[in-house]
Amino acid sequence: MGPTIKLSSGYEMPQVGFGLWKVDNATCADTVYNAIKAGYRLFDGACDYGNEKECGEGVARAIKEGLVTREDLFITSKLWPVFEDGDKVEPACRRSLSDWGLEYFDLYLIHFPGALKYVDPAVRYPPGWHFDGKSQIVRSSTPMHVTWAAMEGLVTNKLARSIGVSNFQAQLLYDMLRYAKIPPAALQIEHHPYLVQKELVSLCKAEGIAVTAYSSFGPASFLEFGFKHAEAMVPLMQDELITGIAARHGKEPSQVLLRWATQRGLAVIPKTSRPAVLAQNLECTGFDLEQDEIDKIFAKDMGIRFNQPSNYFDTDKMWIFG
Ligand SMILES: NC(=O)c1ccc[n+]([C@@H]2O[C@H](COP(=O)([O-])OP(=O)(O)OC[C@H]3O[C@@H](n4cnc5c(N)ncnc54)[C@H](OP(=O)(O)O)[C@@H]3O)[C@@H](O)[C@H]2O)c1
Repeated sequence: MGPTIKLSSGYEMPQVGFGLWKVDNATCADTVYNAIKAGYRLFDGACDYGNEKECGEGVARAIKEGLVTREDLFITSKLWPVFEDGDKVEPACRRSLSDWGLEYFDLYLIHFPGALKYVDPAVRYPPGWHFDGKSQIVRSSTPMHVTWAAMEGLVTNKLARSIGVSNFQAQLLYDMLRYAKIPPAALQIEHHPYLVQKELVSLCKAEGIAVTAYSSFGPASFLEFGFKHAEAMVPLMQDELITGIAARHGKEPSQVLLRWATQRGLAVIPKTSRPAVLAQNLECTGFDLEQDEIDKIFAKDMGIRFNQPSNYFDTDKMWIFG
């Protein structure tokens, strides 16, 4: 196993994992199986990705063939906002577990803050953002402390070994830390040289919350949505600074981007649909960047965020990062 990060729950989380967003259903089981073969042990899934059954098939095949045991793997899933009412958290976690064919998650995260009105899985699953499946954003009145108490219940009931949050910012974390009986073990955030989030990462370090970076390649993940601000940016893998550092170290630009995050102490979960790239992305901890290279990458920060709900649909009711 490669390097790990010790969580406040006492469990070890691999520092490099595989992201499962936009891994299509037809190839997902093979992708997960091949990633295990290539050495990945952490898989970052979610109800919202709509592929948990296929992910579970890939895991089951790898276990059946003796490549790994369940204990060798670290599997993450996430609670979607329509399941944040207190009594909906455990059923949602159980549904994801059943899709994966697992008895427990290593890490279960609240995907986004801001509870939305419950959508029965029998009506639509995964439910998406809209109550009517089209355009209506309908809030639930459930406050975060209620959702978090239910998340703590998952640990008590042994459905999740560690619990955490995603897309949360400082104010809500400070609030949670006041009432949490089990503090969040991890925070998953968008993180790349155009969105460095220094203060948030410092807060997590001070409070013993592990940080996982998502969308480490910045705009690359968002071009397919036609986001104008993603198209307008220099692709990070073609950026002169990044390609120059990569050439100096005999590495790929992608490995420099991942190493910049892992050297900062963050976990990374790159996604690729290309088998040839699997091993390359996993190899992003075995070399060190110079301090001046790290500083120059930090200096690219523009505070540009791609993954916010209001970028995906026209709404005047959804400002999570306001
Ligand atoms: N918590 C959240 O709200 C949230 C949000 C977004 C993402 N995530 C998690 O983070 C994971 C990673 O983020 P992401 O999926 O947005 O994208 P990413 O890891 O930044 O990858 C973006 C794109 O880069 C390409 N790529 C990957 N490795 C490459 C390489 N070595 N060289 C060149 N191109 C490469 C991939 O395309 P190809 O497939 O064609 O290789 C991929 O589509 C997700 O899968 C998900 O698990 C979480």
